[in-house]
Amino acid sequence: MNLPPVVIDNGTGYTKMGFAGIKNHPQFVIPTVIGTREGNADRGNNLASKRGIEDLNFYIGDEAIANSKTYSLNYPIRHGQVENWDLMEKFYQASIFQYLKCEPEDHLFLLTEPPLNQPENREYLAEIMFESFGVKGMYIAVQAMLALAASWKKSERSNWTLTGTVIDSGDGVTHVIPLAEGYVIGSSIKHIPIAGRDITYFVQQLLRERENSIPPEESMEVAKRIKEMYSYTCNDIVKEFKKYDSEPAKWFKEYIGQHSITKKEYRVDVGYERFLGPEIFFNPEISNSDFTTPISTVVDDVIQSCPIDTRRGLYKNIVLSGGSTMFKDFGKRLQRDIKRVVDARIQRSIELTKKVLQSDADIQSNAIEVNVISHKRQRYAVWYGGNILSTTDAFPKHCHTKAEYDEVGPSICRYNKVFGSVL
Ligand SMILES: Nc1ncnc2c1ncn2[C@@H]1O[C@H](COP(=O)(O)OP(=O)(O)OP(=O)(O)O)[C@@H](O)[C@H]1O
Ligand SMILES: [Mg+2]
Repeated sequence: MNLPPVVIDNGTGYTKMGFAGIKNHPQFVIPTVIGTREGNADRGNNLASKRGIEDLNFYIGDEAIANSKTYSLNYPIRHGQVENWDLMEKFYQASIFQYLKCEPEDHLFLLTEPPLNQPENREYLAEIMFESFGVKGMYIAVQAMLALAASWKKSERSNWTLTGTVIDSGDGVTHVIPLAEGYVIGSSIKHIPIAGRDITYFVQQLLRERENSIPPEESMEVAKRIKEMYSYTCNDIVKEFKKYDSEPAKWFKEYIGQHSITKKEYRVDVGYERFLGPEIFFNPEISNSDFTTPISTVVDDVIQSCPIDTRRGLYKNIVLSGGSTMFKDFGKRLQRDIKRVVDARIQRSIELTKKVLQSDADIQSNAIEVNVISHKRQRYAVWYGGNILSTTDAFPKHCHTKAEYDEVGPSICRYNKVFGSVL
C-alpha cells in the first residue's frame, strides 16, 4: 500500500508539517524551537553518538516554550538557513515520531529549502533523513517554486505558469525571487532585512513608549499577537494618522491580556501601531536608518536585473507567500507602489527619447501589466505547494530513494530535478 507523502516546511519561526493529499493546510504548525537541558544541545558530533537515552530529554515547539523555565530554548534555523544540524536532527525526530506519528520507512518525504541553499546543506539533510530515519525516499524543493505552484487555480489549469516573482516573507527573512519556466534566476534574487520578527520588535517598541500595563516579560508575545490580530496596510500614513486623531473611538482597539503567573487581566490600547507595523516594508526608514529601500523598489530592481525577455512575465505574476504577507491590503498597496515605480521609469524614458530626438511628438510606450497575486493559501503557501507537487503521479519517480542513497551516498541529493519537469 502506498502511504501518503510527508511534507515538511521548516521555517525560521514555524515548522509546517503534514501528510499530503489529506487536507489543504498542514496538520501541525509549531514554532521551530527546541528546548534542551543545559549542556545537551550540542552533545556528540556523529550520528551514532546521539542515540543515547539523554537525547530523549528535550521538547520541541510549543511544549519547549511551555518548559522554558527548566529547558533552554534553541532556534536551529536563522534567517531561513539551518544553523545547527544536531539540533535539527532532534527536531525532526520529535516531528516524525511525536507529531506525525509515522514510520519514516513507509513514506516519501518532501522537504523545503530556501533560495541559494548550499549543496552541503542538502547533503546534511539527506544524511539525517536516510541514515537516522531510513525514509523511503525524499525530494528537496525550493520554497519559492512551491509558493508559485500554490497560487495556481485548479479551474484555470491552462494558466498554470512557472514564471513569476515570489515574495516570501516569513519570520526571519523576506526574499524576492524571480523564476522563469521553473528555474530560479539566482543572480537576481534579493533579500530584504525586514520580516515578521522585525515588525514585532517595532510594534513592541511603539507600545513600550505609550503603554505601561504590559508585563515586560510578556511584551514580545503581546506585540506579536497585536500585530497578527489588528495590523493592516494603509494607503497613506498621513491620512491614517488624521483618521485616528479625529475619530479615536472608531480606530483604536483594545487588547485584553492575562498575566501568565498572577492571572491578572490587563488592557492595552492599540492605535497607530496597527498601520505603522507593516508600513516598515514600504517606508523602512521609520524603524531603521541602515536599510531604507522600499519593498516596491526592491521588487522592481530584481525584475529589471533579469533577462529582458522574462520581465513582462515577472511583473504580471508577482506572488505572495508567508505569514508576513498576511496584513490586510498588503498586496493591493504593493501592486500600487510597484506600478508607480514602473510608470515613473517609463515616463523618464519617454522624456529622454524626446530630448534625444528633439521632438515633441506624442511617444507611446507599451504599458506593463503589474499584478500582485493574493490568495487563500498564502499563509502556508510553501507547504501547500509541496502538497500539490507530492500528490502528482510523477512525484515518486523524482524522489531520491533509500537504495540510491545506500549506493551513492549523500551526494545524490546535491541536485534535485527542477520542479517544472516533475509535472
Ligand atoms: N495574520 C497575520 N498577520 C501578520 N503577520 C502574521 C500573521 N500570521 C502570522 N504572521 C507572522 O508571520 C511570521 C511567520 O510566517 P512564516 O510561517 O511564513 O515564517 P517562517 O517560514 O517560519 O520563516 P522564514 O520563511 O522567514 O524562514 C511570524 O512573524 C508571524 O508573526
Ligand atoms: Mg518560510
